[in-house]
Amino acid sequence: MSGTEAAKRTIAYLEKTAGAEDLACLVVEPIQGEGGFIVPADGYLPALAEWCRANGIVFIADEVQAGMARTGTMFSIEQFGVTPDIVLSAKGIAGGLPLAGITGRAEIMDKSQPGGLGGTFGGNPVSCAAAVAVFEQIEELDLLAEAKRIEETFGAGLRGLQAKYNCIAEVRGKGAMLAIEIVKPGTLEADSDLVANVIAAAAQRGVLLLSTGAYNQGIRFLPSLKMGDELIHDVISVLDEAFAASV
Ligand SMILES: Cc1ncc(COP(=O)(O)O)c(C=O)c1O
Repeated sequence: MSGTEAAKRTIAYLEKTAGAEDLACLVVEPIQGEGGFIVPADGYLPALAEWCRANGIVFIADEVQAGMARTGTMFSIEQFGVTPDIVLSAKGIAGGLPLAGITGRAEIMDKSQPGGLGGTFGGNPVSCAAAVAVFEQIEELDLLAEAKRIEETFGAGLRGLQAKYNCIAEVRGKGAMLAIEIVKPGTLEADSDLVANVIAAAAQRGVLLLSTGAYNQGIRFLPSLKMGDELIHDVISVLDEAFAASV
């Protein structure tokens, strides 16, 4: 299905279940995280954004997992030709210290009265200092390029495993946000048992992994943006052993 066809389906669903006139905003993860590292087809996000604009719905990009240089651009949505009204950031923004950010068009953000956007931990000075350091490091260490390097090295390694193990149905993702989809060979049936076994076998060999997707059918890779190629090759050989021990 093309991106525009998929967007038509999403829009029909939203119109049927909520109605455009009752929607204040639409929050999308440009690349889904917990949902399975799903990269939308070309045209999907622009069609959704256009529908939002036509109906006065604020289009919000949740970049909590995919943002902050992870996918090879500062925000993943930049790769889909869409400028959102609001961007949500967290996780990588302060290198692990608790901080979140809301960035948006002035005409929206200025609507909030003083103190209207707050919380117990808002503006924590240590977290803010960490975030400033993160922005400096993204530039100094050229982490956008590093994410693309990781996509090449890690992606090639994962595709090599895919050629070897027919339970790996797909390698997908962008930058240092990659996943493999595990199925029962010859079918599209998720194999979450095999995912669990591979993760356990990898853990025994010193590589800690997380699953992803509605059926825990994927294994995700969100490495440090400074992970070197040598270490990536090590992870791929551990994965190779883990698959060999599990299939
Ligand atoms: C894409 C995405 N959005 C939001 C959240 C939740 O963020 P918070 O813990 O700041 O509520 C997560 C957490 O995993 C996430 O991955």
